[in-house]
Amino acid sequence: MKYIIGNYKMHLTGRESAALARGVLHGIRGSEVLPEIVICPSYTALGEVRKVIARSHVVLGAQNVAATPAGPYTGEVSAAQLADVGCTHVLVGHSERRHGLGEGDAAVQSKLVEALAAGVTPILCVGETHDERSAGKAEDVAARQVRAGLQGASFPKRVKCIIAYEPVWAIGSGSAATPDDAVAMHRVIRRAAGEAGVAADSCVVLYGGSVDGSNAYTFLRERDVDGVLVGGASLKVHEFLAIITAAVDVLQAQGV
Ligand code: PGA
Repeated sequence: MKYIIGNYKMHLTGRESAALARGVLHGIRGSEVLPEIVICPSYTALGEVRKVIARSHVVLGAQNVAATPAGPYTGEVSAAQLADVGCTHVLVGHSERRHGLGEGDAAVQSKLVEALAAGVTPILCVGETHDERSAGKAEDVAARQVRAGLQGASFPKRVKCIIAYEPVWAIGSGSAATPDDAVAMHRVIRRAAGEAGVAADSCVVLYGGSVDGSNAYTFLRERDVDGVLVGGASLKVHEFLAIITAAVDVLQAQGV
């Protein structure tokens, strides 16, 4: 199976997000073969998008979650509240939160555990900065983030452990990693997840960072790439649909 995840980041109103989701549903109508599709709008748009995608193949994700279950944490949103509004997935440890908002490995780990406890599937985001790659530390950084993020986590049998490899330098830069580099890092990530106790067949590893309609196929055709996490290109319906089509082509070629 392949996964296509759209991260709208801090863009769009509820109405705009719903219109975009409607465009995606329109574009996939009638397709018999489809990847798993998750749309992650802003918190404020979750309710609107939920209504649009109800009873469709597309599911709802959030972009962040609180590290604690409930309490006096003004402005935070708990995993149970995300489940209540229809989220089946949530991003944890996105680089814009790690690097822009100072979120460390310990907070990411707590968020992942909270999501699992509420029955929301976490999507653990990891990846090195440009300096870390230049210093030859990319593999160590990603492996550390995976081990730290998964510490103490126990995945129920039917829940996949989804990890997105997103090199920080590739996010929003227009310069994606090469598929070869992504594959090499995905292997490192799978190994680290295995060390953290995740069974190989329940580990899903996605690539993210400047994926668009023109390069998606080159990632998705790799067996080691289980899908893509898409930021900017998920805001343009034709680009997002082109990415979904690339996944469909790969699934059909694999006889799925
Ligand atoms: P991008 O973002 O596709 O705009 O590079 C990816 C992400 O931040 O998840």
